[in-house]
Amino acid sequence: MSFKVNDKVTWVGKIDWELRKFHGDEYSTHRGSAYNSFLVRDEKIVLIDTVWQPFAKEFVANLKKEIDLNKIDYIIANHGEVDHTGALPELMKEIPNTPIYCTKNAVKSIKGQYHEDWNFVEVKTGDILDLGKNKITFIEAKMLHWPDTMFSYLDGDNILFSNDAFGQHYASEFMFNDLVDQSELYQEAIKYYANILTPFSKFVERKIEEILKLNIPIDLICPSHGVMWRDNPLQIVNQYMKWAKNFKENQITIIYDTMWNATRLMAENIAEGIKEVDPEANIKLFNSAHADKNDILTEVFKSKAIVVGSPTINKGILSSSASILEMIRGLEFKEKKAAVFGSYGWSGEALKMLTQLLKEAKFEIVQEGLNILWKPDEDGLTKCKEFGKNFGEAVK
Ligand code: FEO
Repeated sequence: MSFKVNDKVTWVGKIDWELRKFHGDEYSTHRGSAYNSFLVRDEKIVLIDTVWQPFAKEFVANLKKEIDLNKIDYIIANHGEVDHTGALPELMKEIPNTPIYCTKNAVKSIKGQYHEDWNFVEVKTGDILDLGKNKITFIEAKMLHWPDTMFSYLDGDNILFSNDAFGQHYASEFMFNDLVDQSELYQEAIKYYANILTPFSKFVERKIEEILKLNIPIDLICPSHGVMWRDNPLQIVNQYMKWAKNFKENQITIIYDTMWNATRLMAENIAEGIKEVDPEANIKLFNSAHADKNDILTEVFKSKAIVVGSPTINKGILSSSASILEMIRGLEFKEKKAAVFGSYGWSGEALKMLTQLLKEAKFEIVQEGLNILWKPDEDGLTKCKEFGKNFGEAVK
């Protein structure tokens, strides 16, 4: 499959409808994904990015239907990660001397992964590849989301090939932002930002400011995953600016795990308490053992505060709580508040551990944790509601 993006640019990537896990098992992809690759035909012909390795043979076979591979003058690798360079080994068997334009860091990552010494041409911000009528300008985009990432900007057609930035793990045969369901698109875009780009928000902010200052026209943004932004393409740039600035809505997310429902009862009654004092707040509850972790992280991204609960087990916390807190730590959320709770039968160490983990994740702990012995009785449930009320007031 291939299709015309415009007269000059043809999409030659792969829509992966089956994908349900990405980055190993670390990222859920409920709606599949797409690995976008583009063939730009000017006086010179350039291929921008490839696809993930399992689709390498299919990619090269399809590309051959589109063009005689020997007519490709240049390859651009905007980013070295395998979902975009995975077809290079298969492709380079056919055109081994074709120059690959990429950053110095991308050379390191591509060589490190494929152990091949292809004809790399290192580029940096402002370097230009002249295609004849039009030019491609390279813009390094360090930490969006790897140190090797760059964007490529095609003048004349005013297309920004932004690689992972502005992408979504979203399979669609429509492939353009104006044709797809907007709530699905934005759900996948925010999940992608929350789970992949949050730790690099400062870099996102600076890079967008840098690009906006260049005052270059942008008529189309072609990320390397999901649909292309052709209708009001700057909408996603402006949205990224909002997300990059310690984004939060009036939302409180309660994340818990439970063994015999005591901690679940606590969670539900804490929610009741919060609701009493802040009926406007969007309160959401997730059992971290059952809910999708990346969906929970997206909700944490949207939250002004979180409450985390686990019963005590083996002098510690349940494994799903440990897992989600490790993911939360890695994403380096900013300016978010928290409190902890849990039930216990004997020793009750969970709260101390939850508090420690949240402090390491740089959450502000706004009140003492609530530990309830065994299952909460009426008095215990009242304590949970009071705890929720105090928390709701503290994070208002
Ligand atoms: Fe889509 Fe960082 O690779």
